[in-house]
Amino acid sequence: MVRTIAVALGLALLAAPAFAEPGPAEGAGIYQARCAMCHASGLANAPLPDKLATLENDKIIEALTNPVPMMAGAVGGMSEQDKRDVAVFLTKKTMPAKGDLPEVKAE
Ligand code: HEC
Repeated sequence: MVRTIAVALGLALLAAPAFAEPGPAEGAGIYQARCAMCHASGLANAPLPDKLATLENDKIIEALTNPVPMMAGAVGGMSEQDKRDVAVFLTKKTMPAKGDLPEVKAE
């Protein structure tokens, strides 16, 4: 019994960081929640993910930092880390560490 609880606790501890870890997996969730409603279908000429994939990470971060009016509502409140995660998810290009922000490795 005690051992079962210990194993369950151990699994919970192992599982937790996987969700908190910054990176493209986190970016995928952000894309689904905040971007796909326009970019997956090309609504109002939003570039499709294939097109976004050809951009540089910095260009995506720039578009999220100074968004076109249509995008402003969707990207409000995103942290720098969120922007980096979603950029790497879209471009599949690794971003080097910058200041306090860790490297975001493309998967
Ligand atoms: C409400 C719809 C909408 C949402 C939500 C949205 N976008 Fe956009 N986005 C657009 C439209 C429309 C454009 C094209 C603007 C233009 O060129 O005039 C655009 C342009 C961009 C561009 C610039 C592309 C280029 O070639 O310069 C990037 C990068 C981008 N979006 C990324 C994102 C990301 C990442 C998210 C989610 C965090 C997001 N967008 C959410 C509608 C949206």
